[in-house]
Amino acid sequence: MNLLSFVHYTLGIKEIDEQHWGLIEIMNNIKSLNYSNTTEVKKFNTVLVDLQAKILHHFEYEELCMERDEYPYTIPHKREHTILTSKLNMLSIKDYSNAGFLTNKYLVSELQYIIVNHIDYSDMQYGDWVRKNKSIVQ
Ligand SMILES: [Fe+2]
Ligand SMILES: [Fe+2]
Repeated sequence: MNLLSFVHYTLGIKEIDEQHWGLIEIMNNIKSLNYSNTTEVKKFNTVLVDLQAKILHHFEYEELCMERDEYPYTIPHKREHTILTSKLNMLSIKDYSNAGFLTNKYLVSELQYIIVNHIDYSDMQYGDWVRKNKSIVQ
């Protein structure tokens, strides 16, 4: 699977970018797992639990930044986070240790949707707004 480039997912807000890159790094690790190797596949559950905690922490942090900046789309953005969190919870409650290649491929695409598509569209809109409306970007 193709790995994700960090540079592409840059908002220009230091703390948020660092957290996004951390999530993308985990995403790339997941993409790099060899799904035909049972030991490798077992790592998937551990990585998933770690990723879930990091995503939840990140969503909370990002929402605080939006409230601090009085970002006008904070409420719809929070709603999006809530939907993504419930999607993530649905992925995390199952045990994928014995999942086959196709199942893992499905999981990777779901995670990519939860993390990457959201950064690429909704988070980028926040970054654009900050650049236009705030003189100092951390
Ligand atoms: Fe984000
Ligand atoms: Fe977000």
